[in-house]
Amino acid sequence: MAEARIGIIGGSGLYKMDALKDVEEIQIDTPFGSPSDALILGSLEGTKVAFLARHGRNHTLLPSELPFRANIYAMKKLGVEYLISASAVGSLKAEVKPLDMVVPDQFIDRTKGRTSTFFGEGIVAHIAFGDPVCKNLANVLSEAIASLDLPDVSSHKDGTYVCMEGPAFSTKAESNLYRSWDATVIGMTNLPEAKLAREAEIAYATLALVTDYDCWHPDHDSVTVEMVVENLQRNAINAQKVILAAVQSLSKNPPVSDAHSALKYSILTPLD
Ligand code: ADE
Repeated sequence: MAEARIGIIGGSGLYKMDALKDVEEIQIDTPFGSPSDALILGSLEGTKVAFLARHGRNHTLLPSELPFRANIYAMKKLGVEYLISASAVGSLKAEVKPLDMVVPDQFIDRTKGRTSTFFGEGIVAHIAFGDPVCKNLANVLSEAIASLDLPDVSSHKDGTYVCMEGPAFSTKAESNLYRSWDATVIGMTNLPEAKLAREAEIAYATLALVTDYDCWHPDHDSVTVEMVVENLQRNAINAQKVILAAVQSLSKNPPVSDAHSALKYSILTPLD
């Protein structure tokens, strides 16, 4: 059932892509249960894509409740080879402002007990994850941002995304700890996705959309949902433009990705 080579996961604020045409909703059943919502298949300027609202289209799922394995499995089942993950984040650096976009190249895992592997139960594998993001897909995203003139938006290539458990935001002590680690942004969802995508041999990159300064910044109030929501709408409009430009580039020049052969040397259990 190969339907779309490009997948898009939309995070807080990005529940649909307005430019999608010929839309078809697909309910996909997986061995890991149902995905967060129906997958939306459609065409973006002539290129087939699969879209999924990470928290459900009515935002009903907490980060800890997300069916990460079902989401990635469903993308794989549709034939997705490149996965763009748009996600709201807080900034851990003064120069990374609300409304800015970051394309991180590293992650730090602060989640607790989320199942972030398809392996186990008799099959042992360890994927390489030193470079958790597909560099070539990340370049496509950075170039897409650079190709647009987005008011009030600066683009930041590379940087570290701290993935926390939530749902409460960080304490000031935690936020300052992550700053001492030189991390760039903080969110609650992308690391399990990145690991599972790599195991599924899907190239993965994050488009991080900054909504706030978390709670460390002395000149800004600590992050609240109200603050996040204020910036989500503008971020969602900008993100759709970037994703459209990235999809056009991917459809013309699909890049090579090490992720596409990630399992070649990763499985320890003899399979024959
Ligand atoms: N998502 C948006 N802002 C965030 C923050 N400050 N911490 C964690 N996740 C976020």
